[in-house]
Amino acid sequence: MSLFVAIEGLDGSGQSTQTRLLRKWFLSMGEKCLATKEPTSGLIGGLIRAQLTGEWKSNPEALQLLFAADRAVHLDKDVLPALDSGIHVITDRYLFSSIAYGMVNLDEKWLKQINSQFRIPDITIYLKVSPEECFGRLKRGRSRLELFEREDYLKRVHENFMMLSREYKNFFIVDGEKSINEVHENIINLVKKLME
Ligand code: TYD
Repeated sequence: MSLFVAIEGLDGSGQSTQTRLLRKWFLSMGEKCLATKEPTSGLIGGLIRAQLTGEWKSNPEALQLLFAADRAVHLDKDVLPALDSGIHVITDRYLFSSIAYGMVNLDEKWLKQINSQFRIPDITIYLKVSPEECFGRLKRGRSRLELFEREDYLKRVHENFMMLSREYKNFFIVDGEKSINEVHENIINLVKKLME
């Protein structure tokens, strides 16, 4: 059975590295795997990115509707077809990002409602890195920061992710402040358990 894995975390928590390593691990096991990401690189993803960088401003509700629209197309065109043909899928960010980031200033119920038709991953991993550490990594790595990349905002997003981990099934927290390899090993152990 193909697995649908979501890797979540604050900006700068290392999701893209861990997504890449997990895909390599699936391949080394002789399994097929698609590594993908939200926001996507499609047209709707482009509208989202323009808002994150400040190039274009709409409003917070419109941004959330775009995240959901991007997700609907992502599922329909990439994720579900892959899962249906026996390919494991790892997504770097998914609907929990919408809820955790969005509910800092929007209604939680509404955010859950506009995401309610989307498939829940078989396993979700939250890479737990302190908001202070994430913000430090972002400042070192980027000349300009995006919309949500503020320390006070990330603190609240972190609390929201912790709340979601208690609410949803198969939502695990992995210490993202360990070495890249240790984090990878911990993720593999969780995935292996689920595959057994
Ligand atoms: P990010 O993974 O940081 O993209 P990149 O590493 O390419 O810059 O995601 C962009 C931002 O969008 C990040 O701050 C999290 C936020 N986000 C949401 O608020 N809701 C969502 O549904 C998604 C997918 C991302």
